[in-house]
Amino acid sequence: MPDPGRLRIASPEVLAAAATTGHPDGVLLTLAADDLPAPAATPPDFVLVLDRLQDPGNLGTLLRTALAAGVEQVWLAEGADPMQPKVLRASSGAALALPIERMAATDLPGRLAAARERGMQLVAAVVPEAAVAAQPYWELDWGRPTALLLGNEGAGLAPELAELADRRVTIPHSPAVESLNVAAAAALLLLERPRQAHGRPGA
Ligand SMILES: C[S@@+](CC[C@H](N)C(=O)[O-])C[C@H]1O[C@@H](n2cnc3c(N)ncnc32)[C@H](O)[C@@H]1O
Repeated sequence: MPDPGRLRIASPEVLAAAATTGHPDGVLLTLAADDLPAPAATPPDFVLVLDRLQDPGNLGTLLRTALAAGVEQVWLAEGADPMQPKVLRASSGAALALPIERMAATDLPGRLAAARERGMQLVAAVVPEAAVAAQPYWELDWGRPTALLLGNEGAGLAPELAELADRRVTIPHSPAVESLNVAAAAALLLLERPRQAHGRPGA
């Protein structure tokens, strides 16, 4: 529930000037950049890693699913800006609820290697055609601390990231299509973790 002391009535002109859509919902949120969530002090158990994702709609959709699946941190190697209006809209606010770190693509391998040192499994999602040594995603033990790596819309996952991964998983499908949309693939992969946890005693 928003703090009523921080609510203000804005004129239609202010709303129209501040909103980026033709027909805004009538509510605007302004917040300082340092109000955004910071990563927890303890190492995360579930990280989503996106390699140069280009499309703001895909990024927003992915962030919304990530929040639903219990992802604790998102690492973005370059790609679309998570704070741009199209991403914020597609994420339905999830972009403001998740700790997101954007970094140079060249910094990502070092971050991933450090995460592996701490015991995290690095899992690359690869399209069926490239699925040499890949397992169907439901065979993976998602209960371990996991970083899931997804590639970009055109080129897929950078080869050096795919090689760094401990595991490669795929979503098998008809060869009539080469791949799934990255956000559609992510929905199956990310939600497999809570699905497996649901079946565990004590979960
Ligand atoms: C549109 S696909 C990229 C297609 C690209 N031509 C390639 O060869 O990887 C974007 C990303 O979504 C994920 N993806 C798409 N379809 C998948 C599938 N069937 N199984 C696992 N991951 C998939 C992969 O991470 C992929 O890099």
